Amino acid sequence: SVDISTLMRQTGHTTLDYGFVNTSATKSAITFIDGDKGILRYRGYPIEQLAKHSTYLEVAWLLIYGELPTADELAEFDNRIRRHTLLHEDLKRFFSALPHTAHPMSVLSAATAALSTYYERESDPNNPEHVELNTIRMLAKLPVIAAYAHKKSVGQAFLYPDNSLSFVDNFLKLNFGVLSEIYDVDPVMTRALERLLILHEDHEQNASTSTVRLVGSTGANQFSSISAGINALYGPLHGGANEAVLEMLGRIRDSGEGVRRFVERVKNKEDGVKLMGFGHRVYKNYDPRAKLVKESADEVLEALGVSDPLLDLAKELETIALEDDYFKERRLYPNVDFYTGVIYKAMGFPTRMFTVLFAIGRLPGWLAHWREMQQDPQTKIGRPQQLYTGAVERNYPGQG
Ligand code: ACO
Repeated sequence: SVDISTLMRQTGHTTLDYGFVNTSATKSAITFIDGDKGILRYRGYPIEQLAKHSTYLEVAWLLIYGELPTADELAEFDNRIRRHTLLHEDLKRFFSALPHTAHPMSVLSAATAALSTYYERESDPNNPEHVELNTIRMLAKLPVIAAYAHKKSVGQAFLYPDNSLSFVDNFLKLNFGVLSEIYDVDPVMTRALERLLILHEDHEQNASTSTVRLVGSTGANQFSSISAGINALYGPLHGGANEAVLEMLGRIRDSGEGVRRFVERVKNKEDGVKLMGFGHRVYKNYDPRAKLVKESADEVLEALGVSDPLLDLAKELETIALEDDYFKERRLYPNVDFYTGVIYKAMGFPTRMFTVLFAIGRLPGWLAHWREMQQDPQTKIGRPQQLYTGAVERNYPGQG
């Protein structure tokens, strides 16, 4: 067996840090988290204040440029984004090459990577004009791609963006509008989605953002870096948890096993079953985003006139888990994904779109980190080290 400390001495490495639990890969001035106290701030502003008073695009500006925009700056930003929403007609045809059964997250990442092919000649990470233009393009086009991934999965025609509408209303219309019908904007839906998107906009060096930074550190452009981030977000331990939570709630309801029995199975780690939407690498207290989402869930379902027994089931699960020693000892609390799915479902999104919505939310954070990294003179290509534990030198058969 290999002695790890000997290997570390031989290589001169100071840490072996699976999962980067103790390793800072960068400095960053974008987002502050205190996981013990349950605090989250974007550029110093508490998430609670932003979620209540701001908009998705205002927070996007804040994350990307460091300060809140003036009214004129925000209007100009909004206008530029509205002018870039169209997808090239060839790119729209790209969707028909993918099976209608494809998961919308796979479609989202494939089409985002494909965007790069349209703008390669204007994608120099060292050219500020290119960076600015592609920031706008990503913010404008990712929601359209996301909505087309949705429409494709339900077999409906793609709509053209309606640039007379706000960012969120345009997105809702692209998802729920039908060609021949007039689409009525619903302010309850607008505000509910805007709030959820704001809560997802950044979360410092999470797995998908670290992926965007790692890929970007090689000199790859925004489209390539962000499509890699989308793939990292897809996993059930990260953004895919919002979909997994709703599936878990549905399974508990349909099996009739009861919440207590399910929690016992989680505690016994039967078949590796986890309480999805619980636990976090950084938060060892209630995730402040989950607190806000939980408040929204009641308000939004009531305003939309929806009652969903899965929301009651989720609350029952939370109560039982928070009183249980297994969860207390490990400091496991609901994370942002625990209640979001119930709201998305009430809004009419299919379960497989939940992580796509997370990606739209997270996009400004990915862009802000990609840009911060490019501007930092200390940035180097990301290149983790390893401790080699394989075979020592040996000869190919017949060679000595
Ligand atoms: N259900 C049951 N047990 C859990 C859970 C959970 N959701 N989360 C952690 N644990 C247990 C682990 O089994 C481990 O127990 P042990 O000490 O007996 O071995 C202990 O708590 C510590 O957990 P780790 O896996 O070491 O914690 P880590 O920081 O590596 O993982 C993670 C964090 C991935 C979020 C984990 O809590 C998890 O898998 N949660 C469920 C998936 C989820 O909700 N992901 C969304 C995260 S938020 C986001 O990405 C937006």
